[in-house]
Amino acid sequence: MKLQIKDLYVSIEGNMILKGLNLIVNGGETHAIMGPNGTGKSTLAQICMGHPSYKIESGDILLDDESIIEKTVDERSRMGIFLAMQNPIEVPGVTNFDFVKAAVQTRMKKAEHLRIGRFILKFEKASQDLKMGQGLAHRFLNQGFSGGEKKRNEILQMKMLNPKIAFLDEIDSGLDVDALKLVGENVTELKSPELGLVLITHYQRLLDYITPDFVHIMINGKIVMTGKDELINKIDQEGYDWVKKELGIEDEEVKPYSLGTCPSKH
Ligand SMILES: Nc1ncnc2c1ncn2[C@@H]1O[C@H](COP(=O)(O)OP(=O)(O)OP(=O)(O)O)[C@@H](O)[C@H]1O
Ligand SMILES: [Mg+2]
Repeated sequence: MKLQIKDLYVSIEGNMILKGLNLIVNGGETHAIMGPNGTGKSTLAQICMGHPSYKIESGDILLDDESIIEKTVDERSRMGIFLAMQNPIEVPGVTNFDFVKAAVQTRMKKAEHLRIGRFILKFEKASQDLKMGQGLAHRFLNQGFSGGEKKRNEILQMKMLNPKIAFLDEIDSGLDVDALKLVGENVTELKSPELGLVLITHYQRLLDYITPDFVHIMINGKIVMTGKDELINKIDQEGYDWVKKELGIEDEEVKPYSLGTCPSKH
């Protein structure tokens, strides 16, 4: 597996968010992406998954040397791309179990059939591994789940779907200390030469459990520095100002709202 992001420019509603981002993730590698709020980390994950609100202005995303930017979300998912969302969406009317079952079934080859008994055992095992509690399978997807349950549910899906490349967007946010350890251990268990992992996080504590091979710092829509563990410690202690200073990056101008230019006033 090889995911290649080439000089990617992405906008949303006319605002350029990603500005020349390059990244290569090979199977077996774990990449951590850190960076200040609003710098485009979730945008990167969403555009790789095919979120329709974001527009690619230029550049390309290749999976195993094939461009995927024209492919739909479900095509990308079937190709092995997975996104654990920063804010998992609630889907009333679809049970957690049926959602995962449908996702697994659509990945099967035409001649294959889902062996329901085996599937149920696997689902129950994954639920237990993530301490999801009984009954969660038959509740509507994420509806009324606690913050931590939603995050653990994303990892349950990952376990069931066996992706080739997984973006975990702030999988640590909202997790208590025990759940963080649990998620860390479950994700580490999934590491394999076939899986490329991209962890988006603000904090060292997740990376204590899931050791990254590369640590990237993203500022103003592109990766400006790549290193190893030493970067995590430094960011944890000192934030990002030193990176900006070292690289001569100016803070982006934030335009104040002006009532005079508000269309509703006219
Ligand atoms: N629908 C939208 N319309 C306008 N701007 C948007 C929209 N969605 C996202 N943005 C902007 O894009 C920028 C990048 O957002 P993104 O969610 O990728 O940041 P992030 O690096 O993941 O931040 P955080 O660490 O807070 O999660 C932000 O300034 C955000 O306000
Ligand atoms: Mg984000």
